[in-house]
Amino acid sequence: MAYIKEEEINVIRQSADIVDIISSYLSVSKKGRNFVAVCPFHDDHSPSLVISQEKQIFNCFTCRTAGNVFRFVMLYENVDFVTAVKTVAEKIGYHLEIDASSNKTNDFEKELGLMDLAKKYFVNNINTSMGSDAKEYLAKRGITEDIIKEFEIGLSLPNKDNLYQILVNKNYSLEDIESLGLVNKYGLNVYDTFQNRIMIPITNLNGAVVGFTGRIFHQEDMAKYLNTKETKIFKKGHILFNYHNALRYIKEQRQVIIVEGNMDAIKVSASGIKNVIALMGVALSNEQIMVLKKLRVPIILMLDNDDAGLDATVKLGELLEKSGLEVLVVRLSGAKDPDEYIEAFGVPAFEEVIKHALKFLDFKLEYLKQNKNLHNMEDLIKYLKEVLESVKDKDDLTKEVIITKISKDYEVDASVLRKALGKENNSSSHLPPVEVQAPQKKSRYSLATDKILFGMMDNPAYISIYKNRLGYFKEKIERMLASEIVYYNNEHGSINVADFTNFIRDSKELYEKVNFLVSSNIERGITEEEFNNCIDIVLDEYLKSEIREIKEKIKNELDVNKKIALIAKLTELKKGSVENEGN
Ligand code: CTP
Ligand code: MN
Repeated sequence: MAYIKEEEINVIRQSADIVDIISSYLSVSKKGRNFVAVCPFHDDHSPSLVISQEKQIFNCFTCRTAGNVFRFVMLYENVDFVTAVKTVAEKIGYHLEIDASSNKTNDFEKELGLMDLAKKYFVNNINTSMGSDAKEYLAKRGITEDIIKEFEIGLSLPNKDNLYQILVNKNYSLEDIESLGLVNKYGLNVYDTFQNRIMIPITNLNGAVVGFTGRIFHQEDMAKYLNTKETKIFKKGHILFNYHNALRYIKEQRQVIIVEGNMDAIKVSASGIKNVIALMGVALSNEQIMVLKKLRVPIILMLDNDDAGLDATVKLGELLEKSGLEVLVVRLSGAKDPDEYIEAFGVPAFEEVIKHALKFLDFKLEYLKQNKNLHNMEDLIKYLKEVLESVKDKDDLTKEVIITKISKDYEVDASVLRKALGKENNSSSHLPPVEVQAPQKKSRYSLATDKILFGMMDNPAYISIYKNRLGYFKEKIERMLASEIVYYNNEHGSINVADFTNFIRDSKELYEKVNFLVSSNIERGITEEEFNNCIDIVLDEYLKSEIREIKEKIKNELDVNKKIALIAKLTELKKGSVENEGN
């Protein structure tokens, strides 16, 4: 991963206004001292995301997602920290010096540069006179000039090594060009991998071109599609076609449509439905599931209208539901795939089928009827068993609704079905779809702990009170966080929470804890008296726990002298505890 200097990160953080940056993604409005927006991290209906310009922090009152500007970009764009810093830098026009001592970075940047150059070359080709056939073919498929531009569709020429020559002239080595799958070597000969194909660039999750898919457009004797081979930067299992472009629409509409083919995604997107991505086939890897999971929006599976598409719908739907996602299904009829459906029936009809997407369970119940004659006893029993099997991990209400329904439809006693389900039902691994945390009731002690930590970040004058009166926490995370706060304050002479979260971001636990504190209901401006009270509460708790420990020891101690010493100590401690309570 590229390395960005700490100072630079802070400069970017301080030059970027979190309100501006979030406004570039969401519609933000002013409310009192703060700004508010509809939260993109849960299914929000009223604006519960609060952005503090003063503190440079955002915080959702419902799902408790909180943090500084980088965290927002990380979560919203599904990217790592460095990418988020780069994104913010770009938005504010800051020129970032990526550390040149990191070789890996250089390689990566070089590889992306090479792919970008290839893309530009293909785009240039399609815009010359040599591109007219390709454009004519695309036009026939309803792909206009605008869409060609938007998706940066290009053309590879029917020459042996045109691209190769261009890249060599730009001083790229054969090794590099070959390793990215742009050329193939046969003995001493080098050939462009893609020849005479319409070229569609494939981007990674961050929008950088990492591969291509090339489609034939007149000669029929070749493979219809040729894709870049697996390379260091092109891993098919990590790619979701059109993800980068679709992301903001997916967030806006709180829904993502998944299709099989790139052409389908292009066509659907071009018809104005922009929250669409393609799998480039029917396989779904764990990496892709992880990406979808983080989107936290319902998924509409719209795979091809053939057996492979149907089987994959069942399989992928199950996988996605298992990872806690809500799944809807559209099965197209009268056309092979979304592209052809739009060509044949038009956009309004297509929008209509999306509106009528089935819940995955409803789809599954219909699917299970296939190839069965439900008037036939054996088939009916098989069907009922399969239905029960598919609801066994559902919540009680869903189970009951299904049982009631099939009991009516097929005249089977509901109690028999319930019993059959009870036997099946030994796992309940189903995860809840949305992870909105219920506010937990906190003990007096842990609330005091939180307030102390929050107070130290809010007002560094309290840090010395903490050091003098308490000095440590018994819990590891709290102890580590407190000592980071002390350290940070020594180094910087003050604490800005938005910068402090960057400083500790490498420790997941501390990072989470600070973001939790920021998102908690603790008010700023704790008084010194309140701060001291919190310390009293913590001290008292420690004393009590020490007393409990000693009592336990006394009980187990066999040596009389030692026992007497322990009792003396206990008396001493109890005195302290009473004195404390008197305060
Ligand atoms: N595919 C592939 N190589 C092939 C055939 C298919 O990589 N030889 C992938 C492509 O990503 C393709 C998807 O599988 O988009 C679905 O295949 P198919 O339905 O045959 O293609 P379409 O998407 O319908 O493509 P087109 O409309 O251009 O014929
Ligand atoms: Mn098609």
